[in-house]
Amino acid sequence: MKEKFVYFETYGCQMNEHDSAKMKWLLERYHYLPTQNPEKADLILINTCSVREKPEHKVYSALGRYKKLKEKKKTILAVAGCVAQQEGGRLLQNIPYLDMVIGTQAIHLLPRLIERVERDGERVCETSLDQGEEYLETILPIKDFPKVKSYVTIMQGCNHFCSFCIVPYVRGRERSRPSQEILREIDHLVQRGVKEVCLLGQNVNSYGKGRDGEIGFPELLKRINEIEGLERIRFTTSHPMDLSDELIHAYGRLEKLCEHIHLPFQSGSDKVLRAMHRGYSRASYLEKIERLREVCPSIAITADVIVGFPGEEEEDFEETLTLIQKVQFDDLYSFKYSPRKGTRAEAFGGQVEEEIKQKRLVLLQSIQKEITLRKNQAYEGRVEEVLVEGRSKQNDQDLMGRTRTNKIVNFRGDSNLVGELVQVRITQGLAHSLRGEILGDGAR
Ligand code: SAH
Ligand code: SF4
Ligand code: F3S
Repeated sequence: MKEKFVYFETYGCQMNEHDSAKMKWLLERYHYLPTQNPEKADLILINTCSVREKPEHKVYSALGRYKKLKEKKKTILAVAGCVAQQEGGRLLQNIPYLDMVIGTQAIHLLPRLIERVERDGERVCETSLDQGEEYLETILPIKDFPKVKSYVTIMQGCNHFCSFCIVPYVRGRERSRPSQEILREIDHLVQRGVKEVCLLGQNVNSYGKGRDGEIGFPELLKRINEIEGLERIRFTTSHPMDLSDELIHAYGRLEKLCEHIHLPFQSGSDKVLRAMHRGYSRASYLEKIERLREVCPSIAITADVIVGFPGEEEEDFEETLTLIQKVQFDDLYSFKYSPRKGTRAEAFGGQVEEEIKQKRLVLLQSIQKEITLRKNQAYEGRVEEVLVEGRSKQNDQDLMGRTRTNKIVNFRGDSNLVGELVQVRITQGLAHSLRGEILGDGAR
């Protein structure tokens, strides 16, 4: 069969990146090879995110860009991911040159859907959120996995319904994969040389709920920790409300669990946290941070925060800033509140003006920038275990790897160290990374 080419554009979270990797694999089996050049593609697939306005708009500008190609070459145009899930058939109505809409649980159906477009010239839309287990078990074949580290989906969806968030609507209810399947997948990865896994889920702490007789997240971590040959375990994302003592103590007990947690707090004001429907208070968040640091003093803590949520007044924002000063996060992902269609907060009174949101964001980011730099500078002189991921993107004489605390480290070294754990002395802490020198021959 004549080979064809597919060009991918992916926005959004790690889930979406992982979904794109799965789709690439499925398509390869149907003779669609990946290309970096949209002009060469027979299929252009845009995997979209609708969590905020900015990533949502990207899909429309991308579609506009590819319209001409479509006219010239009859390229098949497809939209997948969360915008596809949310907009469904409306996308086909509004964009007459679009061929396919692939919802978040329809990835495993991709080859069949393409066949309908190619063979029958149909325009297709599949956005049911009621797929069986099959979509949960769409995993990558081993040969396509990067050598060093890999994502592993442990659950999909979310039941939290924070008032600002679109995710439960576009990813459906929480569903966990059977632990046996997860362990088997990780076993296979490790046998092929993977050293680090990152367990993926919108709310990993809820792992196992709703699946009769299934183990919980701390037990899952414990079993993964026992897999021989695996060096590092990470996970994302956990919700502060469900962060149990048992999970906190896993940091002290499981030697492969890396000393980093991403624990979004969203706001430092109890009033705003209540309106967000987050289910925890400022004090209980701070208490969890304290306990994490007691159990694991070297833990790096990162988080997400939203400014300008409806009803956020100057004093609420001040409380967000004092929380940031108090916790001293290693890094923060900060966003301006963006009203999402169909969420409760969209209809709340007290929407904050764009100008104020922008001012708050800039101030918050300037405060965090200093904290991040100070945190990175505190590494100077230390010797850190680094897992080498590949050559540095900035300088091809350098290798790039990460500390257990998830800090990027660049240092001189030979390509044969990719995939190895090496000891690196940190010489400089920078705004977004560390610089270092490998010790001895780099061996442990
Ligand atoms: N499941 C993850 C979050 C997924 S969304 C969790 O609960 O932690 C990633 C981040 O996007 C959120 O943590 C939040 O900070 C931000 N976000 C989500 N909806 C948003 C909105 N409507 N406006 C601005 N930021 C938003
Ligand atoms: Fe969204 Fe809240 Fe679920 Fe995270 S926990 S995905 S912020 S609804
Ligand atoms: Fe975006 Fe969907 Fe992820 S909305 S953040 S791609 S779950």
